[in-house]
Amino acid sequence: MKREEKENRRKIIVSGARPSGKLHLGNYIGALKKWVELQEQYRCYFFIADWHALTTGYKESHQVRENSREMLLDWLSVGLDPDKAVLFRQSRVKEHAELFLLLAMITPIAWLERCPTFKEQLRELQGKEIHNYGFLGYPLLQAADILIYRADAVPVGEDQLPHLEITREVARRFNYLYGRILTEPEPLLGEHALLPGIDSRKMSKSYDNYIALSDPPEVVKRKVSMMITDPQRQRRRDPGRPEVCTAYRFQEIFNPPEVERIASACRTAEIGCVQCKEILGHKLVEFLVPIHEKRRELEEKSDYLEEILLGGEEKARRDASATLEAVREAMKI
Ligand code: TRP
Ligand code: SF4
Repeated sequence: MKREEKENRRKIIVSGARPSGKLHLGNYIGALKKWVELQEQYRCYFFIADWHALTTGYKESHQVRENSREMLLDWLSVGLDPDKAVLFRQSRVKEHAELFLLLAMITPIAWLERCPTFKEQLRELQGKEIHNYGFLGYPLLQAADILIYRADAVPVGEDQLPHLEITREVARRFNYLYGRILTEPEPLLGEHALLPGIDSRKMSKSYDNYIALSDPPEVVKRKVSMMITDPQRQRRRDPGRPEVCTAYRFQEIFNPPEVERIASACRTAEIGCVQCKEILGHKLVEFLVPIHEKRRELEEKSDYLEEILLGGEEKARRDASATLEAVREAMKI
């Protein structure tokens, strides 16, 4: 079989992320780690969702480029590989916008208005003027991102499931109206529950409780030392409960060989939190060494970064336009 044919038969994976600048360990555990594995086996399209960033951040549009660059640096530093996955900027593949427009014609407004993420964000971002058409259309733009590559599966966090559901509904409606053209994608959920931040809430930039992939060793260690532990373990001789401890969640993920030993030593108060966190800080720093090395190597190479994106955009555009052509043909326009 020719390489090209083999390539065509591989399952198709699509995922994107809004450019949020420097990424943190939560982004890595929640998404990137999986993406790096997936690129080995599947035809993967991973993109910077810069248009999506504008739906709530249109006033900060001037930050999008810098944030995209930082995110790309982190993607490459953890091992996303432009020779394996198609990496690109959403805004440079305008076919997404055309499919979005065509799908808008057949999408009932109620599907978007009842989307839980829409209602939730309106509540959470009160004071921000986001009663905008683009914001309402967020999930539909996401549907276009996915359907345009005929994705079989979409690796996402649980919070994105409503968007996947809309994507599937829109694909079904399109196929019902115009014939079977679009593929209904499956969500691919990660195995890890969300990584907590150092204060035990979900790790997030907006809570300022994160450890960035690019944080230097001293900063990582300081943040680890601030992590919430078992609140009932006040004194060194008190036995601890790893199952309620945030530092322990990190031990489970970043230090599996030692995790059992740490749990029992914690329960019997053989080990204290300071020592436990020193072990963890060391592990995290060790984990980040190759990531920092790669980042430093790439930071100076702006031309190379641009080249990667241009290359990805060319491939993405080719595949996206093939789908669009089939869509136009099916609609007879
Ligand atoms: N909404 C996604 C998020 O916030 C980002 C995104 C945009 C996306 N388009 C996508 C994810 C297509 C998967 C597929 O994380
Ligand atoms: Fe958490 Fe470790 Fe302290 Fe136990 S010893 S409470 S696992 S930090």
